[in-house]
This record gives sequence, C-alpha cells and structure tokens, in this order.
Amino acid sequence: MAFSFLAILALWIHISFVFVPFGTNMSSDDFYIVFLKDHPTNEESAFQRHISVLSSLNGRDATESHVYSYTKIFNAFAAKLSQNEAQKLSSMDEVVSVIPNRYRKLHTTRSWEFIGLPATAKRRLKVESNIIVGVFDTGITPQSKSFKDDGLGPPPAKWKGSCHHFANFSGCNNKLIGARYFKVDKVRDPNDIMSPIDVHGHGTHTSSTLAGSLVPDASLFGLARGTARGAVPSARVAMYKVCWATSGCADMDILAAFEAAISDGVDIISISIGGLTGGYTTDVISVGAFHAMRKGILTVASAGNDGPNLNSVANHAPWVLTVAASGIDREFRSKVLLGNGRTVSGIGVNAFDPKQKLYPLATGADTAKSADTRESSRYCTEGSMDPRKVKGKLVYCQLGTWGADSVVKELGGIGTIIESDQFLDSAPVFMAPATIVNSSIGKNINKYMHSERLPSAVIYKSQEVKIKAPFIASFSSRGPNPGTKRLLKPDIAAPGIDILASYTPLKSLTGLKGDTQYSEFTLMSGTSMSCPHAGGAAAYVKSFRPDWTPSAIKSAIMTTARPMSSKVDREAEFAYGAGQVNPKRARSPGLVYDMDDMSYIQFLCHEGYNSSSVSSLLGQQVNCSTLIPANGEDAINYPTMQLGIKSDQEPTTGVFRRTVTNVGQAISAYNATIRTPKGVDITVKPMTLSFTRAMQKRSFKVVVKAKPMSNAIILSGSLIWKSPRHVVRSPIVVYDPQVFD
Ligand SMILES: *[C@@H]1O[C@H](CO)[C@@H](O)[C@H](O)[C@H]1NC(C)=O
Ligand SMILES: *[C@@H]1O[C@H](CO)[C@@H](O)[C@H](O)[C@H]1NC(C)=O
Repeated sequence: MAFSFLAILALWIHISFVFVPFGTNMSSDDFYIVFLKDHPTNEESAFQRHISVLSSLNGRDATESHVYSYTKIFNAFAAKLSQNEAQKLSSMDEVVSVIPNRYRKLHTTRSWEFIGLPATAKRRLKVESNIIVGVFDTGITPQSKSFKDDGLGPPPAKWKGSCHHFANFSGCNNKLIGARYFKVDKVRDPNDIMSPIDVHGHGTHTSSTLAGSLVPDASLFGLARGTARGAVPSARVAMYKVCWATSGCADMDILAAFEAAISDGVDIISISIGGLTGGYTTDVISVGAFHAMRKGILTVASAGNDGPNLNSVANHAPWVLTVAASGIDREFRSKVLLGNGRTVSGIGVNAFDPKQKLYPLATGADTAKSADTRESSRYCTEGSMDPRKVKGKLVYCQLGTWGADSVVKELGGIGTIIESDQFLDSAPVFMAPATIVNSSIGKNINKYMHSERLPSAVIYKSQEVKIKAPFIASFSSRGPNPGTKRLLKPDIAAPGIDILASYTPLKSLTGLKGDTQYSEFTLMSGTSMSCPHAGGAAAYVKSFRPDWTPSAIKSAIMTTARPMSSKVDREAEFAYGAGQVNPKRARSPGLVYDMDDMSYIQFLCHEGYNSSSVSSLLGQQVNCSTLIPANGEDAINYPTMQLGIKSDQEPTTGVFRRTVTNVGQAISAYNATIRTPKGVDITVKPMTLSFTRAMQKRSFKVVVKAKPMSNAIILSGSLIWKSPRHVVRSPIVVYDPQVFD
C-alpha cells in the first residue's frame, strides 16, 4: 500500500509535476468564483454590479475582497471570502453559483510520422498560417528555435490578443503572436517570474508539440534525433500562462484565460491541466470550453495521468475533445551488466558513459545510516543513507519518491538501479547514472547480490530500441466517464510517451538537486503531451475546413481514428476511446456528427442538470422540462455510443438517434456494417444512407440490446458507415455502471 502510493507520487512528480497549493495556512478567507445571472452587456456596469453584490455582505469592504471581474464572456467575479460569506452569496437571487477556487496540476520527432502526419503531408500553408492555437500552460520560451517566425507574415487580421512584458526578451514575433500571464490574486510566486516566461518547461514543450516551427537535428543527448516540429508548423501560437511553479493552476486564472483567449480570436484551445472535476456547469474548464465552443473554438484537453485506475478520466465534458496517451514504436533502455556476466535491461534516459568496467553494488538497506532509517533507506530517501557506505557505489533502491538518483549522487554514489513494477512504459530522464528495472529482474539482481561477497555492476548509456505500438500508457486515465454513464470518454488517443519537444533554459532537465544537465529539447511523458498532438490534429483539420464547427472537427477526428486493440489494452475504449488519432484521414471524414450548443443543453437537461444551472451555463433562460427526450435515449449526437446496462434487468435496451452531415462527395451512399460483441444485439435503421448534395443531413437509429454481463468491464462493438471513399467508424460500448458505484 505504502509502496504503490509512493510510486504513484513519484510518477506524478515526473509526469504531471505536482504543485503544492499554498494558502492552506493563510487566513481563513479563501478565494471563490461567483457566477451571476445573465451575461454581461457592458463591462463597466458588470463590474459595478460585482462590487454592489459584494457590498451587500455586511461589514465587508467590497473593493478589498474583490479580486477580479470576468465581464467579457462570463458574468462572474473572484473574491476573497469567508465560508459564511460564500454561503450568503450563494443564496442571493442574482447569484447562480459560488465555487471555491481550486488549484489544479499539470497533467518530436518521431511521433508525427508514427501517427501518419509526416513533414511531407499535404498542407494548406496559407490557411494554416491563419490558424491561431491558444495554449493554457506554464508559459513559453520565446527565444526557442521552435518559435522562430521565418517566412511568416504579420498575425491574421482577426487577432486581437497581445503580449505581456517578457523579463529579458524582445517578446512576441510573427510565430508567437500572443503571450500573457494570469495571476489574478497578484501574489508573487517566489519560484516563478511575473511574465509569460516558462521557468518550468512544460508550456514550452506542449506548445512546440502543437505548432512549433521546424527545427532540424533536434535530440536529447543524441536520442530521439530528427526534425522537431509541431502538427501545424505555420500556425500561430498564443500562450496563456495559468500555471505557476509554487501554487499550480488556479481556477480563477484559468477562467480569466478562457475569457482572454475567446476574445482574442484563437481557433483551438489546448489544455494539459487536470486534477479536479466538478459538474459540467461548474467546473471551470468545462464552463470555459462550453463558451469557447459557442464561439467556434474547440477545446482539447488531457484525460489525466491517474491510470491504469478505471473511472479516472478527467476533462470529460461532452464539448471537450478528451485525449488519452499512447506509446509510439520506440523506447529508451539501458543495459546493466552484473559482475557475474549477466546483462539485464532497464528503462529511462541515462546520458552517462561509465568510466569503469564495474562498480561495487549495494542495496539501499546496506547503506542505512542507522537501524531507524533502515526501512526508508530501501527507498534511498534523503537523509536515510550513510555517505561512507554509498561513496563510489551503485545503489539498488525501491522506487519511492522521485529523485533517488540525485540523493545517491549527492552522497558520492556512482548511480542507482531503481526497482518498480508500475509505469515502466515511459522513460524518465536521470541526472546521474540510473535505470528502472521491474521486480522480476530485481529478484535476479537481489539473488546475485546475496550470492556474492563483493557484488558489482555497471549501467550503460541509454539506447533507443524498437517496440510494438501503439498501446495505451499505463498512466493514461481510463473510463468509464465519472461524469455521465451516457458518454464514452476518453475520446481519442495520441502519442504521449517519451515525446521530444522544446524545453526551457531556466531549469535543469530534472529540476533535481545537483542536476547540471540543460537542453534545448527534452523528452516528456503524460497526457499533457498527447493533448497537443490531438490539438495539432484539430488545427490541421481546421486549416482544410476553416468553417467547420468544433463538434464537426471533433467528430472528424474520432470517426477516422485508427482502431486500437483490446488484446493490447484490456480496458479497450475506456483506455483509447475511438482509437489513435489519424490527422490525414480526419481532414476528409465523409460524414460528421455535428451539434450546436442547444443540443448540448438538451443533453445536460436529460442528465438531470436543473434549469437554473443549465441557464447559468448558457447565460439565458432554459426550461429543461420542454427539452427532455423519450426515456432510454442518450439525447446527444455524439460520434460514439455508450450503453450502461442495468444488472437487474434482462436485457437492457438503448436507443441512439443520430444525424450525420455529408461533408464528402455530393452524390454518395453509405452502407452500415455492424460489429457486435457476444451477448449484445445491435440493429441500425436504415442500413443505407444516400446523399444527393453536400451538407445534406440523414438520420438513423441504433438499438442496442444487452444482457447482464459477467466479468468483462466493457464490451466493444462498432457501427461503420462505408462508402467507396470513406470509412466512418463509431465505437459502441456496453458496460455495467453499478460495478463502478
Ligand atoms: C534576466 O537578466 C538578468 C541579468 O542579465 C539575469 O540575472 C536574469 O536571470 C535574467 N532572467 C531571465 C528570466 O532570463
Ligand atoms: C521485466 O523486464 C524484462 C526486460 O524488459 C521483460 O523481459 C520481462 O517480461 C519483465 N517482467 C515482467 C513481469 O514484467
């Protein structure tokens, strides 16, 4: 138990960079976001109303507790309040909701070729250079080669954004056209810079993955060598810095960034931030993305790094493209030679060539400072080991907190062999010789160490090896969707393991004590890295279809995805959604499942959201009772179908009404192919859809009948509409929600 917790903690530090929220030991007042009825008509009067609402709290200096007003897209304000005051406000007539401000955490070369978008792929450079991608992250590195603006003209005319002052740099150019930071509490972060500068590396990495210019001969220590680039190298980048080194990513800053990005005129928003999720009408990423969608902007977000646990997917609002992380066909491994001549293999990026043939090898416990630290020394934690016993040796540790390589090095050790049974599919970068082995190899190493009086070993420099792919990363969050049993999430999978992209010069590669490695490029893993791959695919589709709605772009990406296999990933669609993103095919899907904002509203009503919370999201009065469709239907024109069965009913029937829009050849016909899992019956009416013109719509009905299921967590079927030119595939999944209650 303790072990797996520590291991998970370690992974988070590596992959999602846990931020410790501060403020828990400050005054009892906390930040809240207060949403008011109606949407703003003019900024000045909205602000006045915020102050007057705050003033109605007895004994409060409104201007002192007021932190920020959202007046462009939302009618809301952030304020510092006591719990009592927050409660009082929420009962006021003109207030629709009061939500506590929470702090969230952040969740290449080969990867684009791997998913079939090589540098030679057809592109529409002129339209592409009119695409603006907005990235919400830790900031950006403006001097990075990925953001050089060679050959790009001035920003598109629609652009209304701006650049905040950059500490030492000239600021924006024709590639990086926007860069702003959001810290509405104005409290300085001691480990960060009040500018859009990225001191962390995460934001530089994600935005260069999405839209970085071509940089030939990029690598990390010669590994993953190739031309680094984004999906849409001619698109423009706008960075909205909402994540800070110490405090993490505050809801009130994220909401402010949404308001800015929507008003500025971005085309796609990419958010590699996760953590907490509330309801679809109160979670700020969900609320922000809804308003972005209404303005024609698709929000692409990471599914989270809480896998392989089921029911862990985040950012699962129906209007968001939710992205899981997959592996590509390479990995970075180090050989370890033991003194007995045997060689074993570990994972990780280790840039160091050994200077000796062999080094003495000790376990962490062998080096314990005292009997009291013997247990923690097994994990090589700081302060647990005796430097005299570590000096000059390789130390064998269990994976505990991240950074055993740094601890061992600081004590004069040579390197670290770390044992772990989790998350062996991504390669962390080490600051000293180190590698990670699984427990079966660990057992062999231990056996060897006990069989020899003076055990020894050596870790060699890492090499790239080919592996089978794709597969879903162990850390990638899984469904089923905790927000609603009627919607399959994640939507799509994209590469998120060992991705090479630009990095900040302001931080060493690991950020660990004693690390002197710096690099323009580095490898990172996480759904944080898969999100900009899918965001890039969305921008690529948009460059061919600039007039498509966010839902149409999303549908195109999902129905053209490359199917993945439940033989590789047992959790099937709960792991990969519709499958691996396939940008080239997504630009010509044949048919799309399109939707407008009222369709989503209808879905929310059907889900049991009440009229007032749905009205608050939409900013206008909605009467849910007039919108709810017949029972048993999912009430959403989604490109995938999910049926939650009732275990006490035999069988459960689900009806899915769908409408597709012809975006392919004017005159065309599609035939239905159904793949049915055992114990499930699927029918489609009609089985043929004929079109005589572009943008013509056709409706059909899918009926799914499923018996109570035994053992399996998910049953996978699909509906495929096929024409001679197109394959439009929708996964149909069946599961038992009671298993997850
Ligand atoms: C800005 O320049 C000063 C002086 O050259 C330097 O000390 C500081 O580290 C620089 N800051 C950044 C963000 O590069
Ligand atoms: C441990 O790692 C080795 C080398 O990568 C591999 O061959 C073996 O299957 C792994 N064992 C387990 C139980 O995962």
